[in-house]
Amino acid sequence: MFSKDLLDAMNEQMKNEFFSGYLYQAMAGYFEAEDLPGIASWMRVQALEELTHGEKFFYFICEAGGRTDLRGFDAPKNDYKSPLDCFEYSLKHENFVTDSINKLMDLARGDNNHAAQIFLQWFVTEQVEEEASFGLILKKLQRIGDDGNGLLRLDEELGQRVFVPPAAEA
Ligand code: FEO
Repeated sequence: MFSKDLLDAMNEQMKNEFFSGYLYQAMAGYFEAEDLPGIASWMRVQALEELTHGEKFFYFICEAGGRTDLRGFDAPKNDYKSPLDCFEYSLKHENFVTDSINKLMDLARGDNNHAAQIFLQWFVTEQVEEEASFGLILKKLQRIGDDGNGLLRLDEELGQRVFVPPAAEA
Protein backbone atom coordinates (compact mmCIF):
# COMPACT_ATOMS: atom_id res chain seq x y z
CA MET A 1 0.00 0.00 0.00
CA PHE A 2 2.82 2.43 0.85
CA SER A 3 5.98 2.97 -1.16
CA LYS A 4 9.13 2.77 0.97
CA ASP A 5 9.66 6.56 0.77
CA LEU A 6 6.05 7.38 1.62
CA LEU A 7 6.01 5.01 4.60
CA ASP A 8 9.25 6.54 5.87
CA ALA A 9 7.81 10.05 5.54
CA MET A 10 4.54 9.03 7.26
CA ASN A 11 6.51 7.63 10.20
CA GLU A 12 8.63 10.78 10.30
CA GLN A 13 5.51 12.93 10.41
CA MET A 14 4.06 10.78 13.20
CA LYS A 15 7.24 11.66 15.13
CA ASN A 16 6.81 15.38 14.31
CA GLU A 17 3.26 15.33 15.70
CA PHE A 18 4.21 13.54 18.92
CA PHE A 19 7.20 15.88 19.27
CA SER A 20 4.85 18.87 18.87
CA GLY A 21 2.92 17.59 21.89
CA TYR A 22 6.13 17.37 23.87
CA LEU A 23 7.21 20.86 22.77
CA TYR A 24 3.88 22.45 23.76
CA GLN A 25 3.96 20.65 27.10
CA ALA A 26 7.42 22.21 27.64
CA MET A 27 5.93 25.62 26.76
CA ALA A 28 3.11 25.00 29.25
CA GLY A 29 5.84 24.51 31.87
CA TYR A 30 7.39 27.84 30.90
CA PHE A 31 4.04 29.66 31.28
CA GLU A 32 3.35 27.95 34.62
CA ALA A 33 6.74 29.21 35.83
CA GLU A 34 5.82 32.72 34.60
CA ASP A 35 2.58 32.63 36.66
CA LEU A 36 0.41 32.70 33.55
CA PRO A 37 -1.81 29.65 34.22
CA GLY A 38 -4.33 30.49 31.48
CA ILE A 39 -1.73 30.45 28.69
CA ALA A 40 -0.17 27.35 30.29
CA SER A 41 -3.56 25.65 30.13
CA TRP A 42 -3.98 26.67 26.46
CA MET A 43 -0.59 25.06 25.73
CA ARG A 44 -1.56 21.86 27.56
CA VAL A 45 -4.71 21.61 25.44
CA GLN A 46 -2.55 22.14 22.34
CA ALA A 47 -0.20 19.40 23.54
CA LEU A 48 -3.14 16.99 23.89
CA GLU A 49 -4.33 17.85 20.39
CA GLU A 50 -0.90 17.09 18.98
CA LEU A 51 -0.96 13.65 20.61
CA THR A 52 -4.22 12.93 18.79
CA HIS A 53 -2.53 14.00 15.55
CA GLY A 54 0.27 11.52 16.20
CA GLU A 55 -2.33 8.83 16.90
CA LYS A 56 -4.11 9.58 13.65
CA PHE A 57 -0.86 8.80 11.80
CA PHE A 58 -0.31 5.69 13.91
CA TYR A 59 -3.72 4.21 13.11
CA PHE A 60 -3.67 5.19 9.45
CA ILE A 61 -0.26 3.57 8.93
CA CYS A 62 -1.57 0.36 10.59
CA GLU A 63 -4.88 0.31 8.75
CA ALA A 64 -3.23 0.93 5.41
CA GLY A 65 -0.92 -2.05 5.90
CA GLY A 66 2.26 -0.18 6.83
CA ARG A 67 4.66 -0.86 9.69
CA THR A 68 4.82 1.78 12.41
CA ASP A 69 8.28 3.02 13.37
CA LEU A 70 8.31 5.12 16.57
CA ARG A 71 11.34 7.39 16.47
CA GLY A 72 13.18 9.33 19.13
CA PHE A 73 13.63 13.06 19.25
CA ASP A 74 15.77 15.66 21.01
CA ALA A 75 14.59 17.52 24.10
CA PRO A 76 12.23 20.42 23.30
CA LYS A 77 13.13 24.02 24.13
CA ASN A 78 12.04 24.68 27.72
CA ASP A 79 13.11 28.30 28.26
CA TYR A 80 12.00 31.44 26.47
CA LYS A 81 12.86 35.12 26.84
CA SER A 82 9.21 36.20 26.96
CA PRO A 83 5.68 35.04 26.02
CA LEU A 84 6.22 36.79 22.68
CA ASP A 85 9.46 34.87 22.10
CA CYS A 86 7.64 31.62 22.94
CA PHE A 87 4.81 32.24 20.46
CA GLU A 88 7.27 33.32 17.76
CA TYR A 89 9.03 30.00 18.28
CA SER A 90 5.77 28.04 18.20
CA LEU A 91 4.58 29.71 14.99
CA LYS A 92 7.92 28.85 13.34
CA HIS A 93 7.43 25.27 14.51
CA GLU A 94 3.95 25.17 12.97
CA ASN A 95 5.41 26.58 9.71
CA PHE A 96 7.83 23.64 9.75
CA VAL A 97 4.97 21.17 10.35
CA THR A 98 2.95 22.68 7.50
CA ASP A 99 5.94 22.38 5.19
CA SER A 100 6.44 18.71 6.13
CA ILE A 101 2.72 17.94 5.61
CA ASN A 102 2.84 19.59 2.18
CA LYS A 103 5.91 17.55 1.21
CA LEU A 104 4.14 14.41 2.40
CA MET A 105 1.12 15.28 0.25
CA ASP A 106 3.44 15.76 -2.76
CA LEU A 107 4.90 12.30 -2.12
CA ALA A 108 1.43 10.71 -1.85
CA ARG A 109 0.42 12.43 -5.11
CA GLY A 110 3.57 11.22 -6.85
CA ASP A 111 2.75 7.67 -5.70
CA ASN A 112 -0.88 7.97 -6.84
CA ASN A 113 -1.80 6.91 -3.30
CA HIS A 114 -5.37 8.20 -3.12
CA ALA A 115 -6.08 6.95 0.41
CA ALA A 116 -3.01 8.75 1.77
CA GLN A 117 -4.00 11.95 -0.04
CA ILE A 118 -7.49 11.88 1.48
CA PHE A 119 -6.02 11.18 4.92
CA LEU A 120 -3.51 14.02 4.56
CA GLN A 121 -6.14 16.50 3.38
CA TRP A 122 -7.41 16.75 6.99
CA PHE A 123 -3.92 17.81 8.09
CA VAL A 124 -3.58 20.37 5.30
CA THR A 125 -6.76 22.07 6.56
CA GLU A 126 -5.74 21.64 10.19
CA GLN A 127 -2.44 23.42 9.55
CA VAL A 128 -4.27 26.44 8.12
CA GLU A 129 -6.25 26.60 11.40
CA GLU A 130 -3.20 26.08 13.59
CA GLU A 131 -1.07 28.73 11.88
CA ALA A 132 -4.00 31.16 12.11
CA SER A 133 -4.54 30.44 15.79
CA PHE A 134 -0.85 30.78 16.78
CA GLY A 135 -0.52 33.83 14.49
CA LEU A 136 -3.47 35.60 16.12
CA ILE A 137 -2.09 35.12 19.63
CA LEU A 138 1.30 36.34 18.42
CA LYS A 139 -0.30 39.53 17.05
CA LYS A 140 -2.13 40.09 20.34
CA LEU A 141 1.16 39.73 22.25
CA GLN A 142 2.83 42.20 19.90
CA ARG A 143 0.06 44.71 20.58
CA ILE A 144 0.21 44.08 24.32
CA GLY A 145 3.93 44.87 24.43
CA ASP A 146 4.84 45.81 28.02
CA ASP A 147 1.22 46.24 29.16
CA GLY A 148 0.99 43.85 32.15
CA ASN A 149 -2.78 44.22 32.42
CA GLY A 150 -3.15 43.32 28.75
CA LEU A 151 -1.12 40.17 29.35
CA LEU A 152 -3.32 39.20 32.30
CA ARG A 153 -6.45 39.68 30.16
CA LEU A 154 -4.95 37.45 27.45
CA ASP A 155 -4.09 34.87 30.12
CA GLU A 156 -7.72 34.86 31.23
CA GLU A 157 -8.98 34.59 27.64
CA LEU A 158 -6.68 31.70 26.69
CA GLY A 159 -7.51 29.87 29.89
CA GLN A 160 -11.05 29.32 28.53
CA ARG A 161 -9.85 26.84 25.90
CA VAL A 162 -10.95 23.26 26.51
CA PHE A 163 -9.71 20.06 24.95
CA VAL A 164 -12.22 18.50 22.56
CA PRO A 165 -11.47 14.82 21.92
CA PRO A 166 -11.45 14.05 18.16
CA ALA A 167 -14.52 11.76 18.45
CA ALA A 168 -16.54 14.69 19.77
CA GLU A 169 -15.55 17.00 16.89
CA ALA A 170 -18.26 17.99 14.42
FE1 FEO B 1 -0.29 18.76 14.52
FE2 FEO B 1 0.40 21.63 15.30
O1 FEO B 1 0.73 20.21 14.17
